[in-house]
Amino acid sequence: MSKILAIESSCDETAVAITDGGKLLANVVATQISVHEKYGGVMPEIASRLHCENIAVCLKEALEQSGLRYEDLDAVAVTRGPGLIGCLHIGMQAAKSIAMLYNKPLIPVHHLAGHIYANEYVGELKFPLLCVVVSGGNTELVIMRDHLDFEIIGETKDDAVGECYDKVARVLGLPYPGGVPIDQHAKNGKHTYDLPKPLHGQGYDFSYSGLKTAVINLVNTLKMKGEEIRIDDMARSFQDVAIGMILEKTVKAALDFNVKQIVLAGGVSANSYLREQMHKRFDNSGIELIIPPIWCTTDNAAMIAKVAEHLYEEGFSAPLTIGVDPNWKIDHFREFDS
Ligand code: KG4
Repeated sequence: MSKILAIESSCDETAVAITDGGKLLANVVATQISVHEKYGGVMPEIASRLHCENIAVCLKEALEQSGLRYEDLDAVAVTRGPGLIGCLHIGMQAAKSIAMLYNKPLIPVHHLAGHIYANEYVGELKFPLLCVVVSGGNTELVIMRDHLDFEIIGETKDDAVGECYDKVARVLGLPYPGGVPIDQHAKNGKHTYDLPKPLHGQGYDFSYSGLKTAVINLVNTLKMKGEEIRIDDMARSFQDVAIGMILEKTVKAALDFNVKQIVLAGGVSANSYLREQMHKRFDNSGIELIIPPIWCTTDNAAMIAKVAEHLYEEGFSAPLTIGVDPNWKIDHFREFDS
């Protein structure tokens, strides 16, 4: 049983969590969304500066919530990548400082492993397992045959699905981040616009850049012709294709790899259509489906602590010379330069 303090700062949330024997004692998240909203996306330099401002406050708040002191901890965990390099550095420096001052092991954690292990707050992971990792920066299908054993079987060749939602929302004049407003508009719309389905029927890989460009071109053409852009219908047409690709490839992978369980992970797993369709396809299929609660679909440190618990049990830690890696691959998460 371990007491872990975990830090997450890979994008626009500064987060600190503390667990004790798997129980979540503190879960502090300072989101920067309202600051980045006006730019229509995350401004990396501003995000790094805000992490600097927020990290000490989040640490203090988490310790207060947990009733623990740094001295009581068994390990300090931190997201090492992937993410925005400047942002990752802030979390890493904070984690290293605590680890050095209090002589605690430092556990580097892969951000997407965190999103996957967030599901352990819902239920036990059962292998072989298919992880559908859909976020603002990543779109991947990952097979796990055991704990901490990740094989990427498919990934996006260009944009991530969440990034595509955000860009499409911007061209439709909807707020950032675009996932929730598109999801809401799609509920009132009909699939009337014809959009391409990149890599449809071709293995487990994804492509979202062509779909994004198709929506942008369509919107510009309609504007030039002075024709009405039906936002609800456009959102529905786009969502059917964007989520349809995930569903198609998930079903194929689940059957091909004969998995026992499917878990959703990442910000886009909050999507209501994806959740509904996953239930439709997998309830009563003999394959168990775990969908994370909304609170752990967005970035948080509770999920980082979950991965760290497993790594701590293995005795896995890193030297204090370790650096961050904005492009760290999940199937190489035990490898780091120092
Ligand atoms: O996991 P996350 O915080 O990003 C990374 O860590 O990379 O997810 C953020 C992404 C954004 O692109 C946002 O638009 C999308 O998740 N998102 C959604 C929904 N809620 C958030 N996308 C589709 N439908 C939603 N309901």
